[in-house]
Amino acid sequence: MRTIIYYYTSTGNSLYLAREINSALKTSGELVSMGNISEYEVPYSDADIIGFVYPAYSMYMPWIAEKFVRRLEIKQDTYIFAVVTYAKYERSIARLNAVLHAKSRHLSYGKSVKMPGNFIPIKEEKNKERLSVAKNIAKGIASEINQNVIQTIKVGSARKQLHNNFRPKWFQVRDMCIGCSICTKVCPLDNVVLFNGKPNWKERCIGCLGCFHWCPKNAIELGFPLIRGRSQYHHPEVVLQDIFRDRNK
Ligand SMILES: Cc1cc2nc3c(=O)[nH]c(=O)nc-3n(C[C@H](O)[C@H](O)[C@H](O)COP(=O)(O)O)c2cc1C
Ligand code: SF4
Ligand code: SF4
Repeated sequence: MRTIIYYYTSTGNSLYLAREINSALKTSGELVSMGNISEYEVPYSDADIIGFVYPAYSMYMPWIAEKFVRRLEIKQDTYIFAVVTYAKYERSIARLNAVLHAKSRHLSYGKSVKMPGNFIPIKEEKNKERLSVAKNIAKGIASEINQNVIQTIKVGSARKQLHNNFRPKWFQVRDMCIGCSICTKVCPLDNVVLFNGKPNWKERCIGCLGCFHWCPKNAIELGFPLIRGRSQYHHPEVVLQDIFRDRNK
């Protein structure tokens, strides 16, 4: 029995859950980032159990991850599960099932898990409460997968346009920037470049806010109205090295 969990993360919630689920599976396997595989590669998986663990972006799967699933070749009779981390509201699972149906595959199991928000701010007490129960939730999910639980999952529509584009003008760098280049390395799309020791943002941004959240000097100011002034966050058990590894840096 071979298991692969494909994950995508910006601030570590999804990586944390992917790790916890993996370690509680009877056939724990490999964790593979969907954020560092070339867009031109057509990956093939011969795993017997495949998981997709990712955050909700604008209620759906981040387009980086969805494009990965569209390219991924999956052998028949694979047990496929999805775990979505989200802050308030999401409905990505039926859409993911539609993407799989188009390839004659289907989800056997799907779960949404509330985690701290890395976009619109969520009350601190709520974030703490969510972190405190996440390990048990992951164990519960792994136990259901271990029992081969099969759910009936709706097949949504996969026709909606993929989006999430952030404009360069929504990022400003403040004086405390030390030119360390961490913001360039955590970006899944190489969208940040240093020029004269300061970051500049290009046009291909998924809005993951990794550059903002991982800056060691909190030197990035967000100009997008809903998130202006929000505080930095990353999962307490995920470190910068995990994200660098994830991005092949
Ligand atoms: C661009 C963007 C869009 C988001 N959209 C939603 C959303 O529609 N619904 C929601 O509940 N959470 C949303 N979130 C919050 C994340 O889904 C949530 O905090 C997630 O756990 C972050 O996972 P990560 O730490 O693995 O990156 C969004 C976050 C970002 C960065
Ligand atoms: S991570 Fe922060 S301090 Fe480092 S270069 Fe980027 S903005 Fe400057
Ligand atoms: S520029 Fe920042 S917000 Fe945009 S994709 Fe890169 S790390 Fe994420």
